[in-house]
Amino acid sequence: MGTLYAFPYTGRNGLASRWNRVVQRWQRGGVEDYALLGAVQRPRLRPARHASEGLEVSEPRIHLSGLPEAFAGYRIVHITDVHYGLFLPLEAVVDTVELANALQPDLVALTGDFVTFSRSCIEPVAIVLGRLRARDGVFAVLGNHDFRVGGAAVAHALRHEGVEVLRNRHTVLRRRGQALYLAGIDDVRYRADLPRALRGVPAGALTVLLSHNPGIIQQAAAHRVSLVLAGHTHGGQVDLPILGNVYARRREGMRFKRGWDCLGATQIYVSRGIGTVVVPLRYRCPAEIPHLRLLPATRVVRPLPPSREAGF
Ligand SMILES: [Fe+2]
Repeated sequence: MGTLYAFPYTGRNGLASRWNRVVQRWQRGGVEDYALLGAVQRPRLRPARHASEGLEVSEPRIHLSGLPEAFAGYRIVHITDVHYGLFLPLEAVVDTVELANALQPDLVALTGDFVTFSRSCIEPVAIVLGRLRARDGVFAVLGNHDFRVGGAAVAHALRHEGVEVLRNRHTVLRRRGQALYLAGIDDVRYRADLPRALRGVPAGALTVLLSHNPGIIQQAAAHRVSLVLAGHTHGGQVDLPILGNVYARRREGMRFKRGWDCLGATQIYVSRGIGTVVVPLRYRCPAEIPHLRLLPATRVVRPLPPSREAGF
């Protein structure tokens, strides 16, 4: 089903808001099951539990080989590309945080581009994101816009608000004696260092990598990362019929840039994100908060054709 979102954030009232509510009925998020090793099972869709104005909560189920039993059902809320500033009011960031907290996740992953151009936006957005709550904490990596505005300042502001910023390093999450490794890298155009981030991670360990740019997929696959969470592309943001979107002229060009895919044993989920750049407009590409659930790989299913876009 196609999607149409002309007004990403409009406040709670007004004509644009009403239009969003009408459109929203056509594009509720759904549960989508993804399996391992280039394989996907036909999505089983059912209504998402939450859908806020102009913002879709998707519910991807990621089936991972080698997932420790203690992490079966582990839930991650993924927020990316907030781009607080000119096009996105702080009220929208507050709504995003409230929506995320209502999901009561095990972990919140923030994958960069918190701001777009202005240093004055850093502190306000960090304060609001500091209200995010998750059982195992809130973790972040920085995006290209953050580095342009001031990477150190963004990282400092987030840390001040209790967000753990992973800059080419990893941390270990433990449950009942079992471990899940969570790594994070700087943006690929600003000294990302994946080998350094993974140094000390045991071979074969379940590893989730936070990377602003999905372009890390080849490196991540070479290092046998289990799952990459990324943003950066805004899912294309504006998806025009025939002309394509701002990131690729043809649909095939969006591979690894929207939704779920895999390369070798490495799976990736790329969120469409929250904010916008260039124009305050989304078209057939609604803002998204993925609410991912990690599950053990249990079934062998058909491989995906190389050009298939999964999930959308
Ligand atoms: Fe972005």
